[in-house]
Amino acid sequence: MSEKKTWSDRFESALHPFIVEFNASITFDIELLEYDLTGSIAHAKMLSHCQIISPAEAEQLVAGLEQIRQEYHQGQFNPGIDAEDVHFAVERRLTEITGDVGKKLHTARSRNDQVGTDIRLYLRDQITQIRTQLREFQKALLTHAENHIETIIPGYTHLQRAQPVSLAHHLLAYVQMAQRDWERLGEISKRTNISPLGAGALAGTTFPIDRHYTASLLEFEGVYSNSLDAVSDRDFAIEFLCAASLIMVHLSRLSEEMILWASQEFRFITLTDSCATGSSIMPQKKNPDVPELVRGKSGRVFGHLQAMLVLMKGLPLAYNKDLQEDKEALFDAVKTTKACLMAMTVLIAEGITFEVERLATTITEDFSNATDVADYLAARGVPFREAYNIVGKVVKTSLAEGKLLKDLSLEQWQELHPAFAEDIFAAIAPQQVVSARNSYGGTGFARVRESLNLVKAQVYS
Ligand code: ARG
Repeated sequence: MSEKKTWSDRFESALHPFIVEFNASITFDIELLEYDLTGSIAHAKMLSHCQIISPAEAEQLVAGLEQIRQEYHQGQFNPGIDAEDVHFAVERRLTEITGDVGKKLHTARSRNDQVGTDIRLYLRDQITQIRTQLREFQKALLTHAENHIETIIPGYTHLQRAQPVSLAHHLLAYVQMAQRDWERLGEISKRTNISPLGAGALAGTTFPIDRHYTASLLEFEGVYSNSLDAVSDRDFAIEFLCAASLIMVHLSRLSEEMILWASQEFRFITLTDSCATGSSIMPQKKNPDVPELVRGKSGRVFGHLQAMLVLMKGLPLAYNKDLQEDKEALFDAVKTTKACLMAMTVLIAEGITFEVERLATTITEDFSNATDVADYLAARGVPFREAYNIVGKVVKTSLAEGKLLKDLSLEQWQELHPAFAEDIFAAIAPQQVVSARNSYGGTGFARVRESLNLVKAQVYS
């Protein structure tokens, strides 16, 4: 059993070995090391700035903390479970390096405001990285969109053929989702970027500290104005998990479409060998493991959001050890989201080829131009509902005869309604069906081109 001296001499005996392990967070919060060092350096500088320690002492502390950073980079800083957490591990090593000066670092600070500072610095950094990844993902989608403005694919509602759309329009829907994700993270980053440092354990400190000084050294945009709130707030973590969950919803929906489109039944895309996998028993198989994994991993992130909400809902003010559980949820959500964004970007950029010829025939083989026949009559004065019923009947008889709308002769059209003329054939051709939907936000080619240029300017700005 270790000679446990992390706490004051109030404690007579050491912890039970299992409780040491149960209590420790070092196995995972080592992930915060860099942020802990950065936060501690700012704190040391502030202590000297406010004449709580001498400039020489601050210099020793900063040098010692930088040495730990170096040791970590060289793989030489590997605190064991007896260190309890990353904060104690750093303080212990610092005291080994600097002697008694190291023991001054924790003046006017608690692990409660310290850990709050660390996870905010961590998350701020991760948010920046995820936003960059979202841009790369958007660019991969935009490249296909630019190549496929005039490629037509079936559009679905209820997974039933509805109306044909531009393939670019379909892909741009995902670019828009990612755009909202990018904006949402930008807003969350602002609320994450508030400093709790100096709130102490819960009530502030008796020392004449300068919280704005540390905040500005750490590039925080503001300072928590209530110390109790500062040490116990994890709203920003929940907001992040919510944003990460939405990213995963979007990636998962796209994954689902990739999986469907790669199937024998759809054959809208082919997976390139670099992004598809084989079966151990069925030699003919080419499996979409990448989008399947992304779809599957989304559940982990949703789970972390739920865990974090439940973690917070019963906590009395202020810090409670329950909060130690925030870290693994956040870390795993960050890692999962980043990995999935990366995988989907690779998949979209180099893992799929659109089967343009197959699409071109596919869109001529259904009744997805039926609305256009009704619109044709409605534009010529027939009330829409009446036109809709007329077309419903033609669809029924055509289905029974194994025919499509394009197979009707002009005489047959005119028997249905005298308003039909020679131009009905052009009006129901897929190219025309798509290009005619030129309302704002619609799939008309001109609109799609316009909207592609707008979003491209945003993404590349
Ligand atoms: N490892 C702890 C955590 O992650 C650090 C804060 C501990 N504070 C305390 N009062 N026990 O939350």
